[in-house]
Amino acid sequence: MAGNIKIVVCKTSEEVAKKCAGMFIEQVRNKPASVLGFATGSTPEKTYAEIARLSKAEKVSFAKVTSFNLDEYWGLDGDHDQSYRYFMNDKLFNHIDIRTWNTNVLNGKARFPAVECQAYEDKIVSVGGVDLWILGIGNNGHIAFNEPGSPVDSRTRLVSLTQSTIESNSDGRFFKNANEVPRCALSTGIGTIRDAKKLVLLATGAKKADAVAKAVEGAFSPDVPASLLQDHPDCTFILDTDSASKLKK
Ligand code: PGA
Repeated sequence: MAGNIKIVVCKTSEEVAKKCAGMFIEQVRNKPASVLGFATGSTPEKTYAEIARLSKAEKVSFAKVTSFNLDEYWGLDGDHDQSYRYFMNDKLFNHIDIRTWNTNVLNGKARFPAVECQAYEDKIVSVGGVDLWILGIGNNGHIAFNEPGSPVDSRTRLVSLTQSTIESNSDGRFFKNANEVPRCALSTGIGTIRDAKKLVLLATGAKKADAVAKAVEGAFSPDVPASLLQDHPDCTFILDTDSASKLKK
């Protein structure tokens, strides 16, 4: 299935960040009370810096925005410097005028994970769904912490991380060694993500080239979770030339 995914190839990761940040600024300019979805990881960092810069330069306020993040490590609380709550505060929320109480990140210390996850799903529905959600892609094709094998209709839940994800998150960028990486996470599901009105997936670097090619040009299959975006009505992949290098077209 070639699918509906729109592909934008940029020369550099800076250009990827500019394109994506521009989409977010446009979204909020057109609808100040937008519901935005955010992601963590190395890839979106430059985009967040650019969103913060543009928000100030172009006076686009995030005061009415509500946000939801894709996932959180199970067992880490928001003050832990490797938690995704900490990452979002540090990389984006502290640099724009979004209201903390309108930012939603799953609680990695929730006493009852199933209750936490259902409440998250309900909250997304109660604010009218996500307008625009930014995604990364794992080397193994995962989106959020939906590892290969995750069903297309999966919802927010407690999941186990694969060895490949544990290793790629302990390569010195985040955790120092694999033993420190939590083995589980709370993750929005593929169904949760597919419900967003608009999706933008970013990938940079040659390590992502295989996953990108399989997601865009391979089978629609849970073996490559990002391929399950192929039939989304409004999904764009913004790639640099390295991550796009294995695409046939
Ligand atoms: P990365 O992670 O941006 O750190 O490469 C992406 C992901 O695993 O989804």
